Amino acid sequence: MGKQLWNKGFDPDQNIERFTVGDDRRLDLQLARYDVQGSMAHIRMLRSIGLLEQEELDQLLPALEDILAQVERGEFVIEAGVEDVHSQVELLLTQRLGDVGKKIHSGRSRNDQVLVDLKLFFRDQLKEIAAAVGDLFDRLLELSEKYRATLMPGYTHLQVAMPSSFGLWFGAYAESLSDDMFQLLAAYHVADQNPLGSAAGYGSSFPLDREMTTELLGFARPHYNVVAAQMSRGKTEKAVAVAIAAIASTLGHMAMDVCMWMCSNFGFVSFPDNLTTGSSIMPHKKNPDVFEIMRGKCNRLQALPNEIALLTANLPLGYNRDLQLMKDILFPASGQLIDCLEMATFMLGHIRVRENILDDPKYDYIFTVEDVNRLVLSGVPFRDAYRQVGEAVQRGDYTPCREVRHSHVGSIGNPANDRIRAKMQALLRELGHGE
Ligand code: ARG
Repeated sequence: MGKQLWNKGFDPDQNIERFTVGDDRRLDLQLARYDVQGSMAHIRMLRSIGLLEQEELDQLLPALEDILAQVERGEFVIEAGVEDVHSQVELLLTQRLGDVGKKIHSGRSRNDQVLVDLKLFFRDQLKEIAAAVGDLFDRLLELSEKYRATLMPGYTHLQVAMPSSFGLWFGAYAESLSDDMFQLLAAYHVADQNPLGSAAGYGSSFPLDREMTTELLGFARPHYNVVAAQMSRGKTEKAVAVAIAAIASTLGHMAMDVCMWMCSNFGFVSFPDNLTTGSSIMPHKKNPDVFEIMRGKCNRLQALPNEIALLTANLPLGYNRDLQLMKDILFPASGQLIDCLEMATFMLGHIRVRENILDDPKYDYIFTVEDVNRLVLSGVPFRDAYRQVGEAVQRGDYTPCREVRHSHVGSIGNPANDRIRAKMQALLRELGHGE
């Protein structure tokens, strides 16, 4: 006889089982610790409302602790024929404790079980992502300070435009990451609500104490309405996907810049030889493959919100098995993002920046706005000053003054890195990180 929790005396066709279980036996391993934690909270609550005896709880809790230890040791497996992590935990309990193990499912369904597992899982994942973002942020701000006075060309339309600096460039990505943290925090708030007690999606006739499980699992509040709790499957994933995509977009953009600055025609930055890659035919090549792979991975991660949106579009209200497939989409994503973030932090630890780039006469026109502004400060109306410098450029006798004096907040001379740091730290603190 099959091991399905819902087995009612007939075995499903094996092909049906293979198709519907899909990759759950592997993916659900990531939910195992949370599934056990959810069960611990649930049975404590069942005891408090009289649905379990104290001695039953005293048997169940240590057995669940053992399973948790097994998970931590990496020894927990979902056996062939067992559908998912929820079934496996219940199976282990019944194998060990007999009928008592069968009691833990009162007042819940795998639908709210997987919901609670996912919320706990996403909370942790978001915190891990935040930590990796925080490390990259620190590295970027450190570089921004170090190269504060090192000028580089600023471009618009990919044409040389105005003076910029490596201080601004590194700092820009630091601040952009802090903006992404708003999205991460939003996803965290969505995930930080307890769906347990919504059962199959419509609640239970048992007097479940949902406030109690909320407190035991450290959620901000219950996801109150049981139907809304079930609807949050998909909604939470979308919020997480948006946060991951936002960070990936920032990082992918930075990776593109690095590829371009490494291009021999720019030559603005370089890396030690052992951090570059070579060509099988061209002996001179030192390629930026790390940043190309990073760019590609980050571009792929930006498909996540679309993938989730398409998977969940127009699903009928309530649980539908399609929802299971979100695990395939989202589970590998945060690991991939963290890998990219850590790689960026590592690589930037070795970046070399070229000094005196703007001394090259090909960047002379980058100073035209500085010269216009100097004229304005001496009393010439802006439009006249603009014309005067423009005509010099047209005649071919423009000579730049080469002096860059930017002092307003966020500019070359005053990048406000301390304030950017404070903004990031406040966001990280909300996620339980940092000083
Ligand atoms: N593996 C399932 C999922 O991820 C668990 C919930 C199953 N519920 C059900 N009604 N078949 O959605």
